[in-house]
Amino acid sequence: MTQGELLYSGKAKTIYLSDKPDELIVSFRDDITAFDGGKKDRLEGKGASNADVSAFLFQLLEKGGVPTHFIKMEDPITMRVKRLSMIPLEVIVRNRAAGSIVRRYPFIEGHIFEKPIIAIDYKDDTRNDPMVNDEIIIALGLMTQEEIQTVRAEALRINEILKSFFESIGIDLIDFKVEFGRYNDRILLGDEISMDSMRLWEKGTHTSLDKDVYRFGKGDVMESYRAVTGRITGSGKL
Ligand code: C5P
Repeated sequence: MTQGELLYSGKAKTIYLSDKPDELIVSFRDDITAFDGGKKDRLEGKGASNADVSAFLFQLLEKGGVPTHFIKMEDPITMRVKRLSMIPLEVIVRNRAAGSIVRRYPFIEGHIFEKPIIAIDYKDDTRNDPMVNDEIIIALGLMTQEEIQTVRAEALRINEILKSFFESIGIDLIDFKVEFGRYNDRILLGDEISMDSMRLWEKGTHTSLDKDVYRFGKGDVMESYRAVTGRITGSGKL
């Protein structure tokens, strides 16, 4: 692997240039944060768990026809990806009510939405990632109406693939967040899909198998991350 100059260091990943101009190297660190960085820890093995799960799910999605930035794993915490021009939006898909939608609106936790709900936030920590609508996205010059439709359709396709995969391993997919970027004239799925960016409940219960274990001190975070990683990567579904 040729890891080049540091490009960007986020809350849990560090991005480097690579030996190819159109590819990047993503290093999954052991850092975990919640509440906009208000809670921070370093948990040994957390980077490897999230890298494993992200690599698995990106490949599962590719198999299902969703184009992603994933190229290959270079080592257990290092992913080679296509260099996207990221669109600063967080696309959140919810199958059931949990987290901020329960805090902000009168939904009971666990309420099953008749149709999945898509909500899009503008990525800006200084503004607390405000929710945006299509008009705001267009006015900010982030995407055209046609691109927004593509991204919404892609988010729903991702949801269908992930939901049925998790169902097959006894897990309910409550919600998740994805980010997209431009690569030549296409929009590809980027960033990561891991226990940090999804809400997963043990099937038929409200038992968290994701970052809520860390956010709300619901148990041993690494025990939970390791167990869920094993269930995902050992599923034989790739
Ligand atoms: O906090 P909220 O309930 O809006 O989160 C919805 C989903 O999106 C959760 O699975 C959460 O982990 C994920 N998310 C994320 N990054 C953010 C905000 C939410 O991965 N900045």
